[in-house]
Amino acid sequence: MHFELSEEHLAVQQAARDFAQTELLPGVIERDEKQQFPAEQIKKMGELGFMGMMVDPKYGGGGMDAISYVLAMEEISKIDASASVCMSVNNSLVCWGIEEYGNEDQKQKYLIPLATGQAIGAFLLSEPEAGSDATSQRTTAIDMGDHYVLNGTKNWITNGNSASYYLVIAQTDVDKKHKGINAFIVEKTWEGVTVGRKEDKLGIRGSDTHSVMFQDVIVPKENRIGEDGFGFTFAMKVLSGGRIGIAAQALGIASGAYELSLKYSKERKAFGKEIMHHQAIAFKLADMATEIEAARLLCLKSAWLKDQHLNYDRASSMAKLFASEVAMKTTVEAVQIHGGYGYVKEYHVERLMRDAKITQIYEGTSEVQRVVISRDVLR
Ligand code: CAA
Repeated sequence: MHFELSEEHLAVQQAARDFAQTELLPGVIERDEKQQFPAEQIKKMGELGFMGMMVDPKYGGGGMDAISYVLAMEEISKIDASASVCMSVNNSLVCWGIEEYGNEDQKQKYLIPLATGQAIGAFLLSEPEAGSDATSQRTTAIDMGDHYVLNGTKNWITNGNSASYYLVIAQTDVDKKHKGINAFIVEKTWEGVTVGRKEDKLGIRGSDTHSVMFQDVIVPKENRIGEDGFGFTFAMKVLSGGRIGIAAQALGIASGAYELSLKYSKERKAFGKEIMHHQAIAFKLADMATEIEAARLLCLKSAWLKDQHLNYDRASSMAKLFASEVAMKTTVEAVQIHGGYGYVKEYHVERLMRDAKITQIYEGTSEVQRVVISRDVLR
């Protein structure tokens, strides 16, 4: 066992860090305020290969490992978690889902534009009455022979408006419960697809979160992923990898807040010395650094398991559970260290604190992660 990153890993990390500093940092406060999707920046991220990092180069991807993906996600998330959630959904839910379980035609038609950044993807599982309880899908896809007819509403969809392609989870046979669920690739421009208003959120306000409605949408049979009834397993598999991405996002939010706090503590003076020399602040920084390091190790371990083609369900849930709690705790402390300055926008930490909260909610709440982990522990 060794803990050193390779030259390639360090290069990816540096490239993501440079991009975040030069392209994402300017305007991040304004985008948060105006709830503005970072469209230009995402386009550039696509050109630089950040939108299909793990995809095989023959489909236009970067051919990188999951460790590289975690490193890049951390750097992008330190600066702009609204951009990084778009990146995470595209990479680990949509691209990976199609590459791993889609057929060759689906890869040629959809994966190539998604991996090269010409198109953005979204993953549509959540519904008004099916969040954590993902088997309770109300969206239906009725089998009509050579096509399905899709009806229903999906909620809280990241990239809901900016995506060209949707991975939609729907019930095809209610009697079969989760075994009657399928996954489909649906194009946003198809007749009967409507995008609802943008959600006015606490955090990740630049991200593009919408409801999406389907009314009698005709979905060709060739757009179903895998065998009939594979949809729920597909969703669980895809989410297990997705949780590595969100864990890395939480890690980035935490380490971004920590770096800002460290810098501020070295500059700000109180009671005759820099505040880092007060043990009250130094101990906070020590706790932050320790917990972030532990979160980073969990993220990298789950990525390593994925790269080794070993089971990572438990590891990715552990990484997401722990990193998201560290993100919340660290960002609250970062605001505290900054005092009054922490409470205003220009110091960034209040935004990071608001952004941290969603990492405990999406791609499975902390409670869902505990379900996954405890079932594995008790097995
Ligand atoms: N791999 C393969 N199969 C799996 C699996 C996995 N990781 N997890 C579960 N399954 C299978 C089970 O084996 C079972 O199949 P059988 O009946 O054939 O044995 C079936 O799926 C049902 O599993 P459970 O009985 O465990 O299902 P459950 O109803 O108890 O729910 C749950 C389990 C873990 C809570 C699950 O519903 C879940 O993960 N919910 C959260 C959903 C979620 O993460 N939503 C996020 C939306 S997307 C998003 O947020 C993106 C974004 O915007 C950023």
